[in-house]
Amino acid sequence: MAHTFFCPTKLIFSDDATIDLPRELAAMPGTTGHAVGAGPALVLTDAGIVMTGILARLMPALAAGGRRVEVFSDVPGNPGVVTVAAALEAAQAVGPAALVALGGGSAIDVAKAVSVLLAHPGVSWSDLQAGRAALTGVRVPLIALPTTAGTGSEVSHVAVIGAADGFKKGIVHASLFPAAAIVDAGLARSLPPRLTAATGMDALVHAIEAYLGRRASPTLDLLALGAIRAIVRALPVAVADGANLHARRALAQAAAWAGMAMDQAGLGLCHALCGPLSAHHEVHHGLGNAVLLPAVLGFDAPAIPEERWPALRHALGLDGSEQPQQGLFFWATRFLTSIGLPMTLRELGLDGATFPAIAAEATRMAMIGNNVRPAGEAECLAVLAAAL
Ligand SMILES: [Fe+2]
Repeated sequence: MAHTFFCPTKLIFSDDATIDLPRELAAMPGTTGHAVGAGPALVLTDAGIVMTGILARLMPALAAGGRRVEVFSDVPGNPGVVTVAAALEAAQAVGPAALVALGGGSAIDVAKAVSVLLAHPGVSWSDLQAGRAALTGVRVPLIALPTTAGTGSEVSHVAVIGAADGFKKGIVHASLFPAAAIVDAGLARSLPPRLTAATGMDALVHAIEAYLGRRASPTLDLLALGAIRAIVRALPVAVADGANLHARRALAQAAAWAGMAMDQAGLGLCHALCGPLSAHHEVHHGLGNAVLLPAVLGFDAPAIPEERWPALRHALGLDGSEQPQQGLFFWATRFLTSIGLPMTLRELGLDGATFPAIAAEATRMAMIGNNVRPAGEAECLAVLAAAL
């Protein structure tokens, strides 16, 4: 089966980012082709990361060699074009030789946007979203340090930013791959149980949707199934004991594997519904995917090709007698219970009033066409109703 695997991000599974970060930063090729060296750096992060002390721990490493380091810490959850514009303005004031993204997918995606916009004067992110401008491949190099084991944005070439109307729109371009990703599981040590669970579920859904999607390939199957196996086993451990570094490492690795798989195989119905769900209700991306997963798997189950089931069943830890149509929905609800997450949209405060709008918007999400079972507006409504 002909297929291509392309991930140019240098992926470093690190035991200590304070050692690997200054070395990678200094040696990384800058926009002029010369190494970044001691050139100025801008860190893009959020207020929560500043509060945890993670940034303070990394600052001496960032400032090594006398480098000037500035910080933009105003990245919100679900960032939009206004945040990108503010971060770009902060970056233009610094003229950074390199960017460092420290956080979850929101910080990394905003940093990706800034890295390309710095190299395209006069172009806004709205221009790119509207197709009024195109990326040329030039960018300021970016190192991503994920602090959650979830989004996989550190190894993907997509940046998802809310458009002016609030609709979450991903831009895909090879220049959006970070130059390097430093995955240090210790950075996630202080992540509280509920966020550990929600971000871990995001990674799990990436892996499941990549494996079941229409663009799956034997190479991506290795990553997706490996991620599913690791997350199913490590996530309940990390939720129960956040200081368990063994489980944190397994999750951080698996999130990057799932990220590579989903970046190249695509996503499916769960993410197609979750985008508009987050936009309408400010629901955390991972939590939204988690709560939608049982109903989506219940819908997808009859369409899973027979030959794809045994490996998935094994990775999920289900025994040989389980069949998708009986096993998948109940497996997902049991798993959510084991990590303390809600199982229904009602528990998130929804009453169904926005379902028609969410269903209509989900059909506009590109990933819906990759779902293992075709889904139109009526199917989306039925899945939302089943998740209520
Ligand atoms: Fe996701």
